Amino acid sequence: MKSACFSARSRAIPFAPPNTPIRSWPGQRVWLIGASSGIGAALARHLLEKGADVVLSARRQAALRQVAAGHAHAQVLVHDVTDPDSWHQCWAQLHAQNHLPDLVVFCAADYRPEQSWQLHSEQVRQTLDTNLAGVYFGLETMLPDLMTRRSGGLALVASVAGYIGLPGACVYGPSKAALINLAELLYAELKRYCLNVYLINPGFVTTRLTALNDFPMPAIISPDEAAARIVHGLERGCFEIHFPRRFTLWIKLLAKLPYCLRLPLLRHLVRN
Ligand SMILES: NC(=O)c1ccc[n+]([C@@H]2O[C@H](COP(=O)([O-])OP(=O)(O)OC[C@H]3O[C@@H](n4cnc5c(N)ncnc54)[C@H](OP(=O)(O)O)[C@@H]3O)[C@@H](O)[C@H]2O)c1
Repeated sequence: MKSACFSARSRAIPFAPPNTPIRSWPGQRVWLIGASSGIGAALARHLLEKGADVVLSARRQAALRQVAAGHAHAQVLVHDVTDPDSWHQCWAQLHAQNHLPDLVVFCAADYRPEQSWQLHSEQVRQTLDTNLAGVYFGLETMLPDLMTRRSGGLALVASVAGYIGLPGACVYGPSKAALINLAELLYAELKRYCLNVYLINPGFVTTRLTALNDFPMPAIISPDEAAARIVHGLERGCFEIHFPRRFTLWIKLLAKLPYCLRLPLLRHLVRN
């Protein structure tokens, strides 16, 4: 039998947004993983200012505390996404508080600029474990409870680097492409359990991650602007939240070109 949330919405509003719009933040509990710096920290501040209850997670406790400082609705929960035990412990702790998150944002990531001839097995493992395996560990831990509860949302922060094979992101790019694929299938699988799934694809944002790049980054924006775009997308019930559009739309177009046009353009990017 179809769930009430799915059938009622799809019958009543033919052009309903893909996800349930989040119209009000007070009372919403958000678990933000990767909240100690950059986009995650900015998003945490935006959501706290809007009145959400935010659980801030990452490995660096001091940095998390700094983001949470002065906010009564902020809670710090140290977490390493690469460790399945850490997922179980954090989830048990959230369970014990009788208040599972309404929205989980997977924002943690590891990145280093590397070309295909510069790989190191330990670094490859670290990036894939953080960006991809960590998300699977989280899904394995949380989905049984969220599917039983039949409400809530999962937001995967991928990247425009996942749209096409961008040179110089040899491990990071494929990990983000996998997240885009994963978000699409999660949306298809979990809608019947009344779960929302969001895919967040930022372009360049000024963070410690992009500080590692030694090339010009077009249309780069601040973490604050990125956070505002994400909140706006969540409030509208979008599936994909991508920004800034003056950059992401060009990369989307490039990704749609046939290989006979796309590959020479990509090679041109390498030369520059
Ligand atoms: N900046 C950009 O231009 C850009 C563009 C596209 C997509 N993104 C995506 O946006 C997200 C945020 O990145 P950012 O640019 O804001 O970089 P950032 O400042 O380096 O943030 C990365 C966050 O991930 C956390 N993290 C890393 N490894 C972790 C682990 N094993 N367990 C738990 N947390 C971990 C870090 O905290 P700790 O070190 O304290 O653990 C930090 O809070 C990432 O998913 C990134 O791929 C960024």
